[in-house]
Amino acid sequence: MADRRTVLTAIGATVAASAIGRTAGAQAKQRIAILGTGNLGQALASCWARAGHPIVFGSRTPDDKRVRDLIRDISGPVSAVTPAEAAAQADIVVSALPWEPAKELLRAVGDLTGKIVIDPMNAPLKLVDRYPAPRDTPISVAEELQALLPGAKVVKAFNTPTSKSIVDPRRAGGHVSIPLAGADVAAKSRVAALVSEIGLEPVDCGPLVAARYIEAMLLLASGYVIYTRGKLFEFHLAPVS
Ligand SMILES: NC(=O)c1ccc[n+]([C@@H]2O[C@H](COP(=O)([O-])OP(=O)(O)OC[C@H]3O[C@@H](n4cnc5c(N)ncnc54)[C@H](OP(=O)(O)O)[C@@H]3O)[C@@H](O)[C@H]2O)c1
Repeated sequence: MADRRTVLTAIGATVAASAIGRTAGAQAKQRIAILGTGNLGQALASCWARAGHPIVFGSRTPDDKRVRDLIRDISGPVSAVTPAEAAAQADIVVSALPWEPAKELLRAVGDLTGKIVIDPMNAPLKLVDRYPAPRDTPISVAEELQALLPGAKVVKAFNTPTSKSIVDPRRAGGHVSIPLAGADVAAKSRVAALVSEIGLEPVDCGPLVAARYIEAMLLLASGYVIYTRGKLFEFHLAPVS
């Protein structure tokens, strides 16, 4: 059986490997499809468009005045088409959607085989004694999504921060961690680079099963808001050298 020192050494090596994403810098411009034009979709679009990545929103109503106005307000290369058209145009697809309708919508967008699907979704909150309760299933949203889209490379990311702190991490002291989980290491590296590029701090937490615990972090953050009647925190996972 491994002794405590061996286990700690192994953990140290893993943490060091996890911190590799932090060193990722600017990368080649890549088209990113963002499905959903709500708070999170807009926050990610504005950050990545500012970094020069062409953004294509997938919206149920791409020609609505609301969508046209929000595109106008984002500086950088941004457009909006239907979700299926957006997904077809990019090899990185962000599901910035509520989880329940996402199941149907993502099945309908066409073949996502080989694409990176970034999953920032949290299941609807269920309160017990005025505090968020665990889901009825031990499986994470990300694992359910991967089962729904077996050919896609699902990467859990961005479910923990508020959209305001994505746009301006300084409101949380400048350090906002983005825990990542996924089976495909190369896909996670690309997502980690996109995280670093907009001033956030990626932490590769491992395989997709880690999404169970990453999604639970949001339960704690939401419970804190309820318990304190409105105070917020962001997660900063500080690496130990
Ligand atoms: N807001 C945050 O700070 C935040 C942070 C981290 C993670 N998240 C997660 O990110 C996801 C999106 O959150 P959000 O706050 O951006 O939500 P939101 O403001 O309600 O926007 C969701 C978008 O999804 C699209 N959509 C497609 N089908 C829909 C349906 N049946 N009902 C409602 N919207 C539908 C809509 O865009 P179109 O009308 O253009 O189709 C809508 O604008 C959620 O899973 C949430 O848990 C949010």
